[in-house]
Amino acid sequence: MAEMPICRWGIVATGGISEQFVRDLLMSDWPEKKANHIIQAIGSSSLEKCKSFAATCVTPAKPAVQPALYGSYQEVYDDKNVDCVYIGTPHSFHKRNCLDAIEAGKNILCEKPFALNATEAEEVFAAAKEKGVFVMEAFWTRFYPLIKTLQRLLHEERKLGTIYRTFCDFGLDIDISSLPETSRYKDPALGAGSLLDIGIYSITWGLMTLSPETGDNAEQPDVSSTQTVIDGVDVASQVLLHFRSTGRQGICTSTTTFECMHPFARLEGSEGRILVDGSTPSSPRSFTFYPKDGGKEERYEFEKPGKGFWWEADAVAQDLQAGRKQNQTMPWAETLRVLSIMDGVRKRSGTRFPVDAW
Ligand SMILES: NC(=O)c1ccc[n+]([C@@H]2O[C@H](COP(=O)([O-])OP(=O)(O)OC[C@H]3O[C@@H](n4cnc5c(N)ncnc54)[C@H](OP(=O)(O)O)[C@@H]3O)[C@@H](O)[C@H]2O)c1
Repeated sequence: MAEMPICRWGIVATGGISEQFVRDLLMSDWPEKKANHIIQAIGSSSLEKCKSFAATCVTPAKPAVQPALYGSYQEVYDDKNVDCVYIGTPHSFHKRNCLDAIEAGKNILCEKPFALNATEAEEVFAAAKEKGVFVMEAFWTRFYPLIKTLQRLLHEERKLGTIYRTFCDFGLDIDISSLPETSRYKDPALGAGSLLDIGIYSITWGLMTLSPETGDNAEQPDVSSTQTVIDGVDVASQVLLHFRSTGRQGICTSTTTFECMHPFARLEGSEGRILVDGSTPSSPRSFTFYPKDGGKEERYEFEKPGKGFWWEADAVAQDLQAGRKQNQTMPWAETLRVLSIMDGVRKRSGTRFPVDAW
């Protein structure tokens, strides 16, 4: 058996998601741990900010290795001790950050959405292919044991029989008008809108539960959609996925005007239904199967120490150890499948970002 891999991470940006990611990786143990992680370097727009980030979320964990702290992202890319760069900047910077890291020969785990549109993502993947580095969109939810179990029950054991429909809603109550103009929730140049921020999860739930394949072999559904747009930013997106080969339908919705109800997802099939719960669709904790014949319900609960970011981090470390350039759960073609659905949604309603060529 291969030895447990060690991944030395370079963290780019010190915002909210970077903090959660770093805190999780500095946990000493978790169930079915498959890799060891070192926070090797941290880069920020300012060295002061970087130091304060490290004091808050690295120092209390007392790691054996103290990270190098930098007042730029480039120094992280250039750090010879970094195996993989984690990118936690707002969506609109992902392409630039990825290209710079690739140029320096670094492997990458980049937050969702991987880019603002499919064209940007294709550019990054082409550069990664040429340089021979590993790149993956940090779609952490796909790596949860809950999701793996659910997919096995749906697609291999046919727990629901013939699958008919998936409903998933991700709603947050965000007072966008009170935020500064520079907020990533408000500025279209930063990719603002419910669709790329949280609608991406509802769409992903539709794809994961209705479509057994991922990436290259996966069916591209027909899509119809509508968005409510205020000041050029969508505050509600309704996306319908229709899989022609099976007739399956996904009703995938998101809003920043109202917190979603729970359970947040409902899956229907000829043998019954499954309701999925958790704090948000990004972080599911349990699901329950209700047989159609009124038989006994079956509840599935899943442990989640920390936030649950280490499942995706473990997968990256294993891929790097094996010399793979893509991850099987979140391959490049799957990132493109989701982005092209969201491109279509935005084209239909005219929610254009400055980088869009249309
Ligand atoms: N996986 C998940 O569940 C999840 C959850 C939340 C967010 N995300 C994703 O993570 C990314 C970052 O989200 P976040 O909530 O962490 O954002 P955030 O709290 O606003 O932090 C973003 C960080 O990016 C850097 N940055 C560089 N240029 C910036 C600019 N012009 N405006 C704002 N920040 C800039 C800043 O760090 P420095 O000053 O240190 O450089 C900032 O702290 C987004 O793409 C989001 O979709 C994922």
